[in-house]
Amino acid sequence: MIVDERMVTYIRSLETPETPLLEEIEQEAADTFVPVIRKETQSFLKTVLAMHRPSSILEVGTAVGFSALLMSEYTPEDCHITTIENYKKRIPIARHNFSRAGRDSRITLIEGDALEVMRGLPGPYDFIFMDAAKGQYIHYMPEVLRLLADGGVLMSDNVLQDGDIIESRFAVERRNRTIHSRMREYLYELKHREDLLTSILPLGDGVALSIKRGEKKDGQTS
Ligand SMILES: C[S@@+](CC[C@H](N)C(=O)[O-])C[C@H]1O[C@@H](n2cnc3c(N)ncnc32)[C@H](O)[C@@H]1O
Repeated sequence: MIVDERMVTYIRSLETPETPLLEEIEQEAADTFVPVIRKETQSFLKTVLAMHRPSSILEVGTAVGFSALLMSEYTPEDCHITTIENYKKRIPIARHNFSRAGRDSRITLIEGDALEVMRGLPGPYDFIFMDAAKGQYIHYMPEVLRLLADGGVLMSDNVLQDGDIIESRFAVERRNRTIHSRMREYLYELKHREDLLTSILPLGDGVALSIKRGEKKDGQTS
């Protein structure tokens, strides 16, 4: 945990419940050790969606569909969500959850490796939620930037590696070193690219919120 535990407990205590079905799916995920977006990050995601009001969303990393359903709850009816997952065991569960919620027509689940799938997508998307294998984010970046609309928002979850990110490479467990250096590279790119404006927040396991600078409809640069 990268934030004081008591602080996290306090912030979580202020949260109000989601729909009974979302609460049930979140609990089922917890019971079966499926990682889903943390409570405090959910709250942030909902707020960003309410501010940005995307009409198209791409999610990288569906798991059992909890965050896709959460996003569908906090976006207008005409907002379509495309989500990618490659773990065969989770795909039918996610599809079942989308049916249970009556959201099959608003959410398209594409099976396959995220990079391969993204290469075949035309885009653009107003909002991209990056929540798959952390060590791959840097490799996804060119496709993500191609797919993100000008003025679009990229939210990347789990970017601070449970606090390991601030440690020297040699202080990090050997098996986590590759992810550590790739995540540092990813965060550096998010912060230094001219076409992105990024804020990194110590929220949940770390969130990076980026906006793709580009031409606004009125001709001004965002
Ligand atoms: C943290 S979970 C996603 C949680 C989900 N977004 C939620 O909050 O409900 C990450 C998911 O990304 C998937 N994933 C990892 N690498 C992937 C890849 N290369 N292509 C597609 N999915 C991948 C994993 O199988 C896992 O289910």
